[in-house]
Amino acid sequence: MAIIAPSLLSADFLNLERDCKMLHNSDADWFHLDVMDGRFVPNISFGPMIIHFIRKTTTKICDVHLMIEEPEKYAEDFYKAGADILTVHIEACRHLHRNIQQIKILGMKAGVAINPHTPVETLFDILPDIDLVCMMSVNPGFGGQSFIPQTLQKIKKLKQFLVEKNLDVKIEVDGGISLENAAGVIEAGADVLVAGNAVFKSDDPLLTISTLKKII
Ligand code: DX5
Ligand code: ZN
Repeated sequence: MAIIAPSLLSADFLNLERDCKMLHNSDADWFHLDVMDGRFVPNISFGPMIIHFIRKTTTKICDVHLMIEEPEKYAEDFYKAGADILTVHIEACRHLHRNIQQIKILGMKAGVAINPHTPVETLFDILPDIDLVCMMSVNPGFGGQSFIPQTLQKIKKLKQFLVEKNLDVKIEVDGGISLENAAGVIEAGADVLVAGNAVFKSDDPLLTISTLKKII
């Protein structure tokens, strides 16, 4: 069974506490928290202050996806806000290995995200040092976009490499996940499914989450 990580980017921010409590009481495994700076991506979302309050609503894992430039400037702030997993973009890190070391020294699990156009092979040398790959299946910046089908080949290639090298790294797939395509994504090798719109814009988010959870 896949780990289900709903993205609060699509939540109702006037009712953020209600939506967080709903996720906490759902079959969701993780909270996926999308941080955007208006520089790395053309959108601005929220930062450590909001995550600090979200953290108070749950004991579930807070999986923080940084879509920001210079993530090293803020890693400690996200640790203090309560992040369990901190993911940085390979395209935003000139010294990726140093960024990963910093995240781990602070006491968090470390993830690396890659954009749809970035070849999966660029990850291979960092895999022994990380806990998670966030494979973007849309261009980062917005919820509600369509899944880019070429991502499936990238997931398969990464999964094969991880198995060959016997590496314990989770593959998270982020963007455009739906009840229709989730099975194919899991079959390709995904361990974690992020879902924003599919959960929060559905008539029954609790049912959508439990349906996603049952897909194998
Ligand atoms: C996109 C974010 C995603 C997004 C997913 O930049 O990283 O986590 O919120 O939303 P959906 O599932 O609506 O594509
Ligand atoms: Zn995300």
